Amino acid sequence: MKKICVVTGTSSGIGAALVPTLLEQGWEVFGIARREADVQHEAYTGVSLDLADLEAVQTYFDGGFLREVNLAGYGRIGMVNNAAALGTLGPQDTLSPGEMARVFNLNTIIPIWLMGFFLKHSQQCSLVIVNVSSGLATVPRAGLTTYCASKSALRIAGLVAAEDVENFEGYAGRAGNTAIVSYSPGTVATAMQENMRGNSTGTLPSVQRFVDLYEQNKLKPAEHPSREIAALLSRSDLPLHSEITFGYA
Ligand SMILES: NC(=O)c1ccc[n+]([C@@H]2O[C@H](COP(=O)([O-])OP(=O)(O)OC[C@H]3O[C@@H](n4cnc5c(N)ncnc54)[C@H](OP(=O)(O)O)[C@@H]3O)[C@@H](O)[C@H]2O)c1
Repeated sequence: MKKICVVTGTSSGIGAALVPTLLEQGWEVFGIARREADVQHEAYTGVSLDLADLEAVQTYFDGGFLREVNLAGYGRIGMVNNAAALGTLGPQDTLSPGEMARVFNLNTIIPIWLMGFFLKHSQQCSLVIVNVSSGLATVPRAGLTTYCASKSALRIAGLVAAEDVENFEGYAGRAGNTAIVSYSPGTVATAMQENMRGNSTGTLPSVQRFVDLYEQNKLKPAEHPSREIAALLSRSDLPLHSEITFGYA
């Protein structure tokens, strides 16, 4: 069975660790980030794209991507909405609406649009969407409004996507071959954690917690959650919607 997976955020962290695992498992991979990922493999296509640029993303997927890829030729399609940013940290009165909107484009709007895109264009084959979530999608933490709110919105949008599949005629028959997973990787040793630790209590009152996790060697390597994401993408027993935390995949 031919299988193809689109992964966002492949230039560092969890996304970068996921690509070689998928290639080893026989997936064709389209990796998207602004920076190029260091991957040389005939089954890998790297796409340099700013996922906060709504028009550029639509133009690429509706145009170049569909011209290059005949999705009907695949038995399984994977979509991993992994790219995200923290946005500016600090109390809400310090946030800029323009910057917040850019981060929401990246963390929420484009992942939602990509869920719809692949639901529309994968009618015949099985589709597994993994939205990389966070404990902070459901737990408020001072200073992290943009991140918490954007991840929370993506979480509920995944639940709504499952409702759409069950209730809209256009998706008739899709419930049996679609899985939407909201996956929380736990605390992982990536640039995002470095960014957290780089704050002061003035922007992130709980910064010491992130420093402690690092100093006590409690951050997991990116390869650990990426292996779980790869395993999820290959499963055929997932329900239409599931929420999975690292260690429970
Ligand atoms: N690390 C953790 O402890 C942790 C915990 C919970 C959840 N997560 C989630 O895990 C996922 C991966 O994060 P990570 O920790 O691996 O972070 P990371 O190392 O900072 O990686 C973020 C990735 O997103 C891409 N990205 C950022 N802005 C982009 C843009 N405008 N356009 C295109 N790509 C963009 C980056 O590529 P470019 O900069 O090259 O564009 C990079 O490849 C995120 O969804 C994050 O919320 C992480």
